[in-house]
Amino acid sequence: MIRRPRRLRLTPQIRDLVSEISLNVTDLIYPIFVIDGETEDIPSMPNIKRYSLNDLPDALKEIVSVGVKSVLFFGIPKEKDETGSGAYDDNGIVQRAVRLTKEIYPDLIVITDICLCEYTSHGHCGILENSVVSNDQTLPLLAKAAISCVRAGADIIAPSDMMDGRVGVIRNSLDKEGFQNIPIMSYSVKYSSSFYGPFRDAANSAPSFGDRKSYQMDYRNKKEALIETQLDIDEGADIIMVKPALPYLDIAKTISDTFSVPLAIYHVSGEYSMIKAAAQNGWIDEKSVVLESLTAMKRAGAKMIITYYAVEAAHWLKGE
Ligand code: PBG
Repeated sequence: MIRRPRRLRLTPQIRDLVSEISLNVTDLIYPIFVIDGETEDIPSMPNIKRYSLNDLPDALKEIVSVGVKSVLFFGIPKEKDETGSGAYDDNGIVQRAVRLTKEIYPDLIVITDICLCEYTSHGHCGILENSVVSNDQTLPLLAKAAISCVRAGADIIAPSDMMDGRVGVIRNSLDKEGFQNIPIMSYSVKYSSSFYGPFRDAANSAPSFGDRKSYQMDYRNKKEALIETQLDIDEGADIIMVKPALPYLDIAKTISDTFSVPLAIYHVSGEYSMIKAAAQNGWIDEKSVVLESLTAMKRAGAKMIITYYAVEAAHWLKGE
């Protein structure tokens, strides 16, 4: 007798019936760049823009109309300085974008990335002491940034700086301000990755000297991912994250098998741009490659996925 696994693959209906994983629009989080200036294209990220506040409402309209429920804001300020003060300015670009967004779409989940690199003149994720990023001097500024974003209306805070102890410091500060109900989505396992290149073009946030290897993780390490995640959970992280996505699905799978906190995977800018470029050359079928990739992230254990493809994927999931 032949065992026949093909029996369960014979029609689309049977394949749907037995499928183990489903990708839903509610899994997707769409990153949005907002700029204190005019709307601009991002050459290394086709179809993604830096939106001015004037153009943001139209962009949000499309995002919401296709069913996307969550967005993640990054700000590009007019001026950067040594201490990244734009990150914790109550009138900063992200704070204004959040206020505007929540006014128009109170039910849209607004997440703000908390980091200094888009706001510092040197492009590092924290403030410098003798050209080294000072962990402990950076912590209070991250907490200030978190509080000012929540005051503006942010629903979830997502620290991406990789300073030690930041989840605990942010949690305490939020609680002290009466924001006990605001979840922290921590970039727990963030590797120092060359796949962030197009993002740094988009946010004009490449470090002006050196690199981020003294705070982001070394991609040779897997056990360290367990330590980072455990620390963040102990400090109060409500959602944990692995970043980047496809080259790190082994890490995502281990984290999801080990911890019960919901896991986010970040499908980063370089991953997006590679698919776009190949698709624009006619070398791959964009829709099927993207849906296959996002489903693989769910299979590895992601509960949610941050992706620049969220809006296009939402259209495709609706059969458009
Ligand atoms: C801020 C931040 C970065 C990304 C998310 N938050 C850039 C970096 O760490 O250099 C990268 C996201 C992407 O590549 O899409 N620290």
